[in-house]
Amino acid sequence: MSDIINNQRRLDPQDSLVVLSGCGTSGRLAFFMASGFNRELQRLNYAPVCSYVIAGGDRALFSSQEAPEDDPTLGALCLKKVSEGKKRVLFVGVSCGLSAPFVAGQLDFCLRHPDVYIPVLVGFNPAHQARKEPIPGCTLTFHSVVTRMEELAKTQKAFLINPALGPEAISGSSRMKGGSATKILLEVVFSASFSRTGILQHMRSYEKALDFTYSHSEEIAALMEAAGRSLQCGRQVCYLGWGSLGLLGLIDASECKPTFGADIRGFVSGGYKELGNNEGDLTLMGPEFSISHDDFLDGVLPRLTDADTVLLLYSHSGETSAPSRSGRLRTESACVLTAFVFSSRQREFSTKLLLNAVSTGAHIFKGKVFKNYMIDLQVTNSKLYRRAARLLQKLSGHSESECEEALLKAIYQVDKLSEDIATCSLETHTHTAAKAKKVVPLALVCLLTGCSMKEVESRLEQQPIIREAVETCLKSS
Ligand code: F6P
Repeated sequence: MSDIINNQRRLDPQDSLVVLSGCGTSGRLAFFMASGFNRELQRLNYAPVCSYVIAGGDRALFSSQEAPEDDPTLGALCLKKVSEGKKRVLFVGVSCGLSAPFVAGQLDFCLRHPDVYIPVLVGFNPAHQARKEPIPGCTLTFHSVVTRMEELAKTQKAFLINPALGPEAISGSSRMKGGSATKILLEVVFSASFSRTGILQHMRSYEKALDFTYSHSEEIAALMEAAGRSLQCGRQVCYLGWGSLGLLGLIDASECKPTFGADIRGFVSGGYKELGNNEGDLTLMGPEFSISHDDFLDGVLPRLTDADTVLLLYSHSGETSAPSRSGRLRTESACVLTAFVFSSRQREFSTKLLLNAVSTGAHIFKGKVFKNYMIDLQVTNSKLYRRAARLLQKLSGHSESECEEALLKAIYQVDKLSEDIATCSLETHTHTAAKAKKVVPLALVCLLTGCSMKEVESRLEQQPIIREAVETCLKSS
């Protein structure tokens, strides 16, 4: 694959393109790396040939847009649009779980146009574990696409990069290990394509950064605790960052909503100018799209108290400007975070590990994780809906059909399912779930106690720490 990228950058940039694509975290990393690779190419006097696609468009860079993940046709259309007029396109689709229909649609599109596209799939499951669930409205499954790719991989007309990674630290949260592995893997492949340094040497530099980062576990724990305390008492955690470390802060913050149903906010110096995203300035789309330091200074700083935590993300290398430039900034409870490792890739990797640990740890403190499961996840696409139903089965011991029934009751806030609801499409269920709150905890407590939706709602209100509410119900059931 490195050879192909190497050829790709030597071709006329008018004709050739490298597209990175994915959903959620995988799409955010596609954006992050496409920008980084272009910067690198320009530094080496080559034309930038990388582009990105994220399911749900640029608003998905900072907010949870899980529904487009289910749409293979949309995936193919987005790829077609970004590669219009190109003669040679290397397409890299990332789906950590080998599961996203959006990416399956793109890979299928590449397989149907082999004269232009070379498809690469990056994920972290063995091929036989690719998702087999039928995709509504089309004949594909992720698994069927993978099988076709495996066949073409024998003659290097397609590539499958899918080392098995083992379970995530928090079940289902691919933003951590899966996201880090995506970053390492693609960066190593791209670096190897335009440097003489071997793949092993590149990999070792990440290992060094990993060892360095975790040798500071006490400091990481202190940050985690500070952030956890802020979330526990309903206060804020903000990341205020510079350069690519700031972008990683934005990414980590935006992942917290779908994963834990809770917020951490990120801000980056230079805002959208620093980002250089496809759709430009999105500030007008709402408060969660206000991402510049000025937005922080105007909207957050005036209300900060000692109970809030602000993490500053920057490096001393000079590659990213230091916080001193922000003359108006005076935070009372700021934690300064710096990763004293060597290359910018190592610093980024170290920062990603650290932020993932801090945000995950903080949400554990807040009670959003029960027995290693995120129990307050959003149920906003088919994968998350199935995950929620399986989780209910696991935690309640009830049958599959009872759990799905409870899930639907919680989504529609009813004690009895009408014929209408029972026959709605999965898409309607996940669309409705996007407007509901605490769907999985509600369903679980209903299953365990047999109480009505109203009673369970009031129980959860009395005990806002979800883990404790569930533990109490489990004890008394
Ligand atoms: O469905 C939501 C989600 O789980 C995101 O949280 C995640 O980042 C995204 O899907 C991508 O998953 P995958 O890389 O496995 O396609």
